Amino acid sequence: MSHKLEVKKLYKTFDDKKILNNINFYIDQGEFVSVLGPSGCGKTTLLRIIIGLEKADEGTVTVDGTDVTSFSPSKRKMGIVFQNYALFENMTVLRNVEYALLCAKKGKKQAREISMALIEQMHLSDKINKYPSELSGGQAQRVAIARTLALSPEIILFDEPLSALDVSTRLEMRSELKELQASLKTTILYVTHDQEEAVALSDRVMVMSEGVIRAIDTPYNIVNCQTDEFVNEFVKKNIQIKAESLKRFIN
Ligand SMILES: Nc1ncnc2c1ncn2[C@@H]1O[C@H](COP(=O)(O)OP(=O)(O)OP(=O)(O)O)[C@@H](O)[C@H]1O
Ligand SMILES: [Mg+2]
Repeated sequence: MSHKLEVKKLYKTFDDKKILNNINFYIDQGEFVSVLGPSGCGKTTLLRIIIGLEKADEGTVTVDGTDVTSFSPSKRKMGIVFQNYALFENMTVLRNVEYALLCAKKGKKQAREISMALIEQMHLSDKINKYPSELSGGQAQRVAIARTLALSPEIILFDEPLSALDVSTRLEMRSELKELQASLKTTILYVTHDQEEAVALSDRVMVMSEGVIRAIDTPYNIVNCQTDEFVNEFVKKNIQIKAESLKRFIN
């Protein structure tokens, strides 16, 4: 059986600089894979290529075995959530979510129904007529997630979605994301700078440096059983992973 998402032999150069250098990995249906790595190592570029906002120099992206490398972003069954929310400032919460559906040629009534349900699911019912400037960072990010979910993507890419939030909101959103993933069973590729977040949320963690995948393994193995020197240093340097986060892997 083919993997949900597979990236093969991906190369990308910007201004003669190798940004992605032979990237190969897959994600299975319903899997949550996080991507960690130093700033500038190519994480955002990788997501942009996967969803089709950027073109690779070489390599392929397949979804359920279908080569989507030449497909436009809207044809890839994917959604993306950015760090800065990217909401329309002149539209209310409801309009922001509805807009994606109307653009995708859904009928007005259906668009309204789907949007209302998602807004409720994201605990935003009391903000439905508010504008983005009237929302907190956490609320704005929940609108962005609702908008992405509206189009029922089979794969969701997240680019540091919680980085702009304060610590307590980040922790709250982390558990919401986990619940969401458990109920939707969507396939997720999740870029973060927060190693603890990666460990808490993921089935597998990918560690990149300078356009190369240094390791892709379970959180437990990434933290405890790495032979790769870069990964070991990176994990050690960045955090002490709380024992509770790792408990779920020990049995
Ligand atoms: N459109 C572009 N034109 C030229 N260079 C680019 C472009 N986009 C990205 N780069 C370069 O590619 C490299 C990787 O950038 P990318 O944004 O993918 O890194 P990142 O891993 O997401 O970093 P961060 O953790 O800071 O978000 C950087 O050196 C960046 O300057
Ligand atoms: Mg980035």
